[in-house]
Amino acid sequence: MRITCVSGDIRSVRADMVVVNLFEGEKRPGGATAAVDAAIGGGIAAAIRDGDFQGKAGDTLFLRPARSIASPRVLVVGLGKKEKFSPDHARQAALPVVKLARKLKLSSVASVVHGAGAGGVDPRTAARFCALGASLSSFEFDRYKAEKGHRVSRFLFVERDAKVLPAVRAGASHGARLGEAINWGRALVATPPAELRPGDLARLARGIGRGIGAGGRRIRVRALGVPDLVALSAGGILAVAKGSAAPPRLIVAEYRGGRPGAPWTALVGKGVTFDTGGISLKKWEGMEKMKYDMAGGAGMLAAVRAAAALGIRRNLVAVVPAVENMPSGTAYRPGDVLRMMSGKTVEILSTDAEGRLVLADAMTYAVRKYHPAEIVDAATLTGACVVALGSVNMGMMGNDAGMLDRMKSASAASGEKAWELPLHEEYFEQIKSEIGDLKNIGGGEAGTITAGYFLKEFAGETPWVHLDIAGTAWVEKEKRGYAAGPSGVPVRILVEYLSAGPPG
Ligand code: BES
Ligand code: ZN
Ligand code: ZN
Repeated sequence: MRITCVSGDIRSVRADMVVVNLFEGEKRPGGATAAVDAAIGGGIAAAIRDGDFQGKAGDTLFLRPARSIASPRVLVVGLGKKEKFSPDHARQAALPVVKLARKLKLSSVASVVHGAGAGGVDPRTAARFCALGASLSSFEFDRYKAEKGHRVSRFLFVERDAKVLPAVRAGASHGARLGEAINWGRALVATPPAELRPGDLARLARGIGRGIGAGGRRIRVRALGVPDLVALSAGGILAVAKGSAAPPRLIVAEYRGGRPGAPWTALVGKGVTFDTGGISLKKWEGMEKMKYDMAGGAGMLAAVRAAAALGIRRNLVAVVPAVENMPSGTAYRPGDVLRMMSGKTVEILSTDAEGRLVLADAMTYAVRKYHPAEIVDAATLTGACVVALGSVNMGMMGNDAGMLDRMKSASAASGEKAWELPLHEEYFEQIKSEIGDLKNIGGGEAGTITAGYFLKEFAGETPWVHLDIAGTAWVEKEKRGYAAGPSGVPVRILVEYLSAGPPG
């Protein structure tokens, strides 16, 4: 889908459908909505008057007016209450538009920029979020279907005021590029596990090095294999990988967007390409979904891709430990004691708590090799996080108040929700081992926190934030135009975090 912008009157734009909007509770349409309504004979006002349409967020009103404007179809999207409107509402407003356009097999849509006028959001930001929504809702994973879904070929934003057009263009281009990177990551997560093993993930990660990169700044991707990992004593990654016929990789993607010598931000993402639980085998129900256990890794690679496409001025390195967690005669066992890359020893109680083991080594690698100013990690780490926060918020923990504050601001600005859980030192008791330094599970209570605490032991003095995306990385049911499947979390919050500038 190509996203473009023009200035002019939406009534005279040729497209298969035009899109205007309404705030909840507005008695009479205003702006472009009023202009369109007058031209088509008042159907929108009538629907409002009769209570057919109230402008609630996510609601839509579709019209096929007899007195048509340049376009034969009109869609009015509800923006919700004006007082509650935020840029993310503009994104959400764009979602059902593309959904309907695809259902009707339309090839072009022309839309106003939601929220730029009465919504009180600046036009550039509003356009950014609208374009992002349009792009995200155009995602469909139909690689394995004989009958492919319909693709809308053109999405046009129409801005009345020619003076505002440059801002709208810049915003829409930003949103479209971000959406592209996110959709790239979503496709990785959706790919069946037999076709996305560690080596495949590494190969596809190399693809982000090609083609993109603003101002000649490119992404350099490499992948360490078993000999390198043995040389590094990556005991966590090597142990988890032992049960699989597919050798592990440690994928490293560098993007130098900052000035030379500026410190690195390390983005560590869990890349378990399939999590059977290993010898501590998971039950069969829902196991197929464990292909998304690499969503953190895909998210970090997508964030780097987005940063390059957007020309974000930061030095970033994504570090993704890619492994497949399988049960077999060569698998690691409960009772084993691993020596991690950091030198710490870990007693294994469940081979299903594998994410923290591979992340710990990846964090040690990042710290030793890059001396980063900060680390963010993202992982589908614990089922307990799904219990605690559901699919609304990701879990967030960290060792640095400033960094946590900045991540909270990024959460608010991006609309991707994150909620902090405490890492009080009392929780350490739960992961102390009798035989080694740590054990890999903390018992029944506070499973998300004890997993976070485990990682904290490997962050050392480096400021670090951990995002547990187990509950948010996968959308169970299509929602208002957002497809079921990989959600793209946490790329939006990360790009916002990274755009807000370096620490300090
Ligand atoms: N990948 C899972 C976590 C997970 C569970 C993500 C459900 C999404 C949905 C992780 O590797 C795991 O299995 N964690 C265990 C830890 C336990 C053994 C301490 C869990 O959460 O059950
Ligand atoms: Zn597991
Ligand atoms: Zn896992």
